[in-house]
Amino acid sequence: MPGLLSSPLCLTVVWFLSWSLRPSCAQIWTDEVSDVQYGRLESNVTLACGQSKIGVPVVWYLNHSLALPWHKLMLDGALVLLHVDHSAQGNYSCYDNEGLLLHSVKLRLGRSPGLLSISCQVPNHTYVRCSWVESVKTFLPAKYNASFRGNGHEWRPCVLDVIRKQCDIDHPAFWQTMHTLRITETNSLGSETTFAQFKLHELLKPDPPESVLVKEIEGYPKRLTVSWNFPSSWPLHDAFPLVFQIRYRPRGSIYWSEIYSEENSVIIFDALAGHLHQVQVRARDEVNSESQWSEWSPLLLAQPWKVYPTPDPAVTDDGDYFFPFNTKPETSTAKSHNPVPDAEGNLGLVILLVVFSMVILATVLSLIFVMWLRKRRRNHVTKQELTSMVKMKSMPI
Ligand SMILES: *[C@@H]1O[C@H](CO)[C@@H](O)[C@H](O)[C@H]1NC(C)=O
Ligand SMILES: *[C@@H]1O[C@H](CO)[C@@H](O)[C@H](O)[C@H]1NC(C)=O
Ligand SMILES: *[C@@H]1O[C@H](CO)[C@@H](O)[C@H](O)[C@H]1NC(C)=O
Ligand SMILES: *[C@@H]1O[C@H](CO)[C@@H](O)[C@H](O)[C@H]1NC(C)=O
Ligand SMILES: *[C@@H]1O[C@H](CO)[C@@H](O)[C@H](O)[C@H]1NC(C)=O
Repeated sequence: MPGLLSSPLCLTVVWFLSWSLRPSCAQIWTDEVSDVQYGRLESNVTLACGQSKIGVPVVWYLNHSLALPWHKLMLDGALVLLHVDHSAQGNYSCYDNEGLLLHSVKLRLGRSPGLLSISCQVPNHTYVRCSWVESVKTFLPAKYNASFRGNGHEWRPCVLDVIRKQCDIDHPAFWQTMHTLRITETNSLGSETTFAQFKLHELLKPDPPESVLVKEIEGYPKRLTVSWNFPSSWPLHDAFPLVFQIRYRPRGSIYWSEIYSEENSVIIFDALAGHLHQVQVRARDEVNSESQWSEWSPLLLAQPWKVYPTPDPAVTDDGDYFFPFNTKPETSTAKSHNPVPDAEGNLGLVILLVVFSMVILATVLSLIFVMWLRKRRRNHVTKQELTSMVKMKSMPI
């Protein structure tokens, strides 16, 4: 081995390596400000002047200027900045009386971290996203460490997104009632750990239903059909049914009417004919009654079918809308929207029409019969007259 190390080839390699690494090292050492010092706002900050000897006078510069904030100069050349604010930040350098640079340092001011206010969103059973807001503005770069656990279980990392100040947990132990998240924020002035406890089943809040559509039903001036998709973040699985709430009102009214449904479409049977309606849908886990309703879907406007609608292809066109989950006919569970009375009304009308036309037919038929009878009788009379006339003619006058 020693033979190998002393071989000319190896020496050349070592020399080449040290030569090629040298420039970057030199660059670092010759940098004007090699150090960063962090200080607390509103405190006294002491900047040491390197290895300057006691009694040797020194001169301090801030950003190459002699104008310094409120300060004291110590005997050993150290500079004490009093009750600093942001304007005291910058590059400090101290020189001896011969103009030789003794030390330079960049001062950054801020605060140590405070407690975080943490909130978590649970859009489905397999995912938790927690985000935080700082209670103290630190003005300094920070690092975070976040972990998560169910009661009595091991800590698991909560995967961080420092830019968005949030972290994600995949497949939390949903069956456990209490969970704890702890986030530690660390910066150059200190660190602080915040604990937050919550119940996932109470935080469970689906995203709003998607692709909500409201359409008229041709021939029905008081009906609207509403359809929607499950939130795309909700697993399409029988184990996770959702219940939907639909609310609607004529535009301008302050009272909403509501329908509940487990399917992904309903028919509104009591719309106000000839009026624009506002319609919204929201969702909730059907099984877990302690969970939260989603936000409402965006407000949609639609008008029921009109008796003499102006021909408008965009409205009357019954396009091929895609309902991926529409397996059963529409149901409405909350209100008894009974379609029977309406159908009965139509049936009555049909019967009335049939009876009416039968009456007319009968009248016409009997009229024809009467006329035919009268004509026959008249024919008979004429025949009799003729025969009597013939008889009279043949009689000798
Ligand atoms: C302070 O020092 C840094 C690092 O050397 C340098 O980039 C910056 O330009 C300096 N600022 C001033 C105002 O001298
Ligand atoms: C800062 O220094 C001044 C003057 O020496 C002193 O009166 C003050 O109490 C000090 N402040 C703190 C926070 O140490
Ligand atoms: C010194 O320069 C820094 C930028 O390097 C700037 O943020 C600071 O305000 C300057 N300080 C003064 C007193 O001019
Ligand atoms: C984050 O916290 C965990 C658990 O306390 C610890 O093991 C890990 O070293 C920490 N990581 C950092 C970067 O501080
Ligand atoms: C749960 O929600 C997250 C965030 O929206 C999503 O990325 C994930 O795919 C969802 N999980 C399932 C099973 O749909």
